Amino acid sequence: MSLNLISRRHFLGRSSGLAASALVGPNLLLRGQNGAGKRLRIATIGANGKGQSDTQGVTLDHDIVALVDVDSKRLEAAAKHREKHHLDSGKATGQAPKLYSDFRKMFDEMANEIDAVIVSTPDHTHYVAAMHAIKHGKHVCVQKPLCNYIGEVRDLHQAANKAGLTTQMGNQGRTQEGQRLAKEWIEQGAIGTLKEIRLWTNRPIWPQGPKAKRAAQAPSELNWDLWLSSEPSEPYFEFDLPPAAEGSKGKGNRFGNSVHPFAWRGWWQFGSGALGDMGCHIMDASFAILGQLIPERIDATSSPISEFCAPVWSELVYHMPAGRHPALKVSWHDGSKDGKPNKPEISPHMTSELARRAFDKASSGMMFIGTEGTVFEGEAYCSSPVIYNEERYTQVRLDMKAGKIKKTETRSVMPNNPQGEWAHHVVNGGKPSSNFDYSCPLTEFVLLGNLAVRAQQSVQWDKQGMKVSNSESANQFVSRPSYRDGWKA
Ligand SMILES: NC(=O)c1ccc[n+]([C@@H]2O[C@H](COP(=O)([O-])OP(=O)(O)OC[C@H]3O[C@@H](n4cnc5c(N)ncnc54)[C@H](O)[C@@H]3O)[C@@H](O)[C@H]2O)c1
Repeated sequence: MSLNLISRRHFLGRSSGLAASALVGPNLLLRGQNGAGKRLRIATIGANGKGQSDTQGVTLDHDIVALVDVDSKRLEAAAKHREKHHLDSGKATGQAPKLYSDFRKMFDEMANEIDAVIVSTPDHTHYVAAMHAIKHGKHVCVQKPLCNYIGEVRDLHQAANKAGLTTQMGNQGRTQEGQRLAKEWIEQGAIGTLKEIRLWTNRPIWPQGPKAKRAAQAPSELNWDLWLSSEPSEPYFEFDLPPAAEGSKGKGNRFGNSVHPFAWRGWWQFGSGALGDMGCHIMDASFAILGQLIPERIDATSSPISEFCAPVWSELVYHMPAGRHPALKVSWHDGSKDGKPNKPEISPHMTSELARRAFDKASSGMMFIGTEGTVFEGEAYCSSPVIYNEERYTQVRLDMKAGKIKKTETRSVMPNNPQGEWAHHVVNGGKPSSNFDYSCPLTEFVLLGNLAVRAQQSVQWDKQGMKVSNSESANQFVSRPSYRDGWKA
């Protein structure tokens, strides 16, 4: 009997650990030489918000067979959005996807009609939704950060590899040209020896800091209990914020004091703060350039936190061991401090008026500082990096033209479309740019910063043992404290 036909209760009852995955083969027939041109049957869990554009990335080339969202209005809007995208593109809408509020019910009822699953829910549900998909043998594309706990990231990685599935994280920068260029420049000596990396973002643009919960009436269209998913049951709440509280500018105000949608990001339970939100983008190029190394120690300072919420600003230093480059520090600045954007010092190579203006304008960015120049990117994805000073950049471009600096990195088959790229590789074989072998350690790299922030101290990371070696209490933040019955696959 196929596990796809087994009811959820039965499935959950018998599938502890990875035992169940052995019963369900991934859709291997879809891959390899016979797969070309096949249309996948894809389900999106978390259909609105980012899920809407994630679905858009695959819907013209594949069949969206199900959309899942716990907010009925947003679910309907996501279905309409998909249809409109087809009409705008002059392509038939095809069969309308089935609509669900509970992804477990979807797997119960139609697992054998699904090949692959996109997960675009708030962070806390990534693990349980993706694990259900993996244990049903479905290829998975999960939004960033893969999970908000390191223990879950490791678990997901192991389960997906054991099941032989094609995986992807939704960090679009990884599929783009810019990250590859930056790596090629640095590896081929364009800025001398790499000495230091400085990263920053203006996030959070949603409420963070030591906020409190206030009981409130849940919107009628929202199934709050399903929204909580594996988290303990609790009455609906919103931020207890005065009208113009610090850090509440932007989306926090736009959505009132509600945590749903979007503004859940600052809660440790549901999100992963500014670092978790932007780190998988802004740290991505650094992680690739440094050879996917995990830091040995992370220092953290931040504004006050609470047991519930991430800080308004934080500053981190990742101590990286030597590898492709000498041992060096990667620093991270986020939020605003003393009423000003919390940014690092500008690179000493960025002395011109043009360079200063580019730096001042950059609300997020990165600087790879070498002995002879700096690779600068003024946004989060490293889409279009440049080199300072300007003379050096001119020379690098001439060297590229002359073939002295070569293209050594494999290019994506679908730049800036991680969902489309993933589906392509499910069908045709090969690995997506941010497959779990890459994106699980990247997410761990990012979440180590949160570990230090939550511990409010420097942490020494024992990668092998998956534990903090200099503070026992910090280890409480490595894995999710509990899962509600019925949610863990
Ligand atoms: N790659 C990117 O550039 C990018 C950009 C934005 C968001 N994201 C990521 O996408 C994810 C979603 O973020 P968002 O901004 O769209 O959040 P959101 O809150 O705006 O939207 C999430 C959607 O998921 C639904 N949902 C919540 N719980 C669910 C559940 N248990 N089952 C099914 N649906 C559920 C919500 O109703 C909502 O419609 C996050 O992990 C975020 O980090 C990535």
